[in-house]
Amino acid sequence: MGKILIVDDERSILESLEMFLGEKGHSVYTASSGQEGLDVLHQEKPDVVILDIRLPDLNGLDVLDRSQADGCTAKIIMMTAFHDMETTIQAMKRGAYDYIHKPLDADEVEKSVNRALRILEVDRESPALGKSRTGRSQEVIIGKSEIMRDIFKMIGLLCQNRATVLIQGETGTGKELIARVIHANSPFCDEPFITLDCAAVVENLLESELFGHEAGAFTGAIHRKKGKIELAGSGTLFLDEVGELPQGLQGKFLGFLQRREYTRVGGHEPLLSRCRVAAATNRDLSNMVRQGEFREDLFFRLRVVTLQVPPLRERISDIPELVNHFLDKINIELETEVTKLQAGVIERLMAHPWKGNVRELENVLVEAVVRARGRVILLDEIERALKMNEPRSPSGPSSTSLNGMEKEHIRNTLRQMGWNRTRTAQALGISIPTLRSKIRKYGITPPPNRTFC
Ligand SMILES: Nc1ncnc2c1ncn2[C@@H]1O[C@H](COP(=O)(O)OP(=O)(O)OP(=O)(O)O)[C@@H](O)[C@H]1O
Ligand SMILES: [Mg+2]
Repeated sequence: MGKILIVDDERSILESLEMFLGEKGHSVYTASSGQEGLDVLHQEKPDVVILDIRLPDLNGLDVLDRSQADGCTAKIIMMTAFHDMETTIQAMKRGAYDYIHKPLDADEVEKSVNRALRILEVDRESPALGKSRTGRSQEVIIGKSEIMRDIFKMIGLLCQNRATVLIQGETGTGKELIARVIHANSPFCDEPFITLDCAAVVENLLESELFGHEAGAFTGAIHRKKGKIELAGSGTLFLDEVGELPQGLQGKFLGFLQRREYTRVGGHEPLLSRCRVAAATNRDLSNMVRQGEFREDLFFRLRVVTLQVPPLRERISDIPELVNHFLDKINIELETEVTKLQAGVIERLMAHPWKGNVRELENVLVEAVVRARGRVILLDEIERALKMNEPRSPSGPSSTSLNGMEKEHIRNTLRQMGWNRTRTAQALGISIPTLRSKIRKYGITPPPNRTFC
């Protein structure tokens, strides 16, 4: 039960709220003007204030500002008779905890008050999470589980040489992060780290992206262009989604891996490269080999050293430390100070299946931090964020509506991106071939005056 102050000039509201909240066992104070509200606030130090925006003397927003300037820690719920976006945004920006509309809905008031009291309780009772040791660096891999320790050992060994490495694992497990950490710890860390996402480039441009081209090599090749291999120099070439490398190019790339020699498209001059090749995939390459979709000889060549990154659900003991790390990172990025978790949050996170792995965990925490009021993340905010971030599956019990939502989402994104498929695929976080097949599946077409680009 809490101490609650209601500030409103309408008698009927004061009386009904006082009665309603009093019956729930709270101690209720009332004030009928802004100044009186500030006085009671000062004397009684309530936990929660329900504050009207339109008051006879001061504006509710001014009362909010002054109370904040006084160092008041009460959670302030604003209320108004007007559905006004501007004031809502203003109030939230200035630190209001919540915002409710008149005519008041008793349920809504009760929920908001109870939630505020819970936040205050968690804030009082739970210690703040310690700063994680990792500081600001993005390129640090968190993990103490047995499985991750083995990966760290391999990374340590790989840092001493230029061996080709294949990093396999589900989406969001940290494959790219691992490639970057290997590079950052190598003697050639000052050389470039160049990424080529094989799924993001249209098939007939991939060859020239990789090997470069000479002027006039094909229509549109006006100038000579360096390929990613050349750009990587003596650094690292990170071939992402290597499973998407078209068959035709697989042979040519194998030739490069064997001899370290290549030519630009349309060129004759043999070029050499010492770059380390790190390739990543979330597909089962050995299965692709069995299906005849991936060359066996290239597979063997790539997997000289293989790192199999485990899904997050197989290393849930790492979750507490990952949460700490991400909260630190998010607090810096969003300039927030969310450092406390309601009891049960970590357990809930450890029980989740994490189909989107570490990336999903990071996204869930960003969402929860954005929604947190004050320093605390409540369990129901986590529930909500988990639901919002659920990786969508194309089939399933509610597939019709999900498909409908997906179609709508793709169409909207295409429109926002000017019907540019590359940018749309990037924005949606899917590969271009996947986007194309979805466009086909849903029969999405641009409006009459537009075309895909
Ligand atoms: N062990 C970890 N410690 C800290 N951050 C991590 C860890 N694993 C992943 N991350 C973070 O999670 C996010 C996703 O990781 P990353 O992009 O490396 O995944 P990926 O395996 O390449 O995914 P995809 O297959 O979808 O490309 C990144 O922000 C990364 O920094
Ligand atoms: Mg990746």
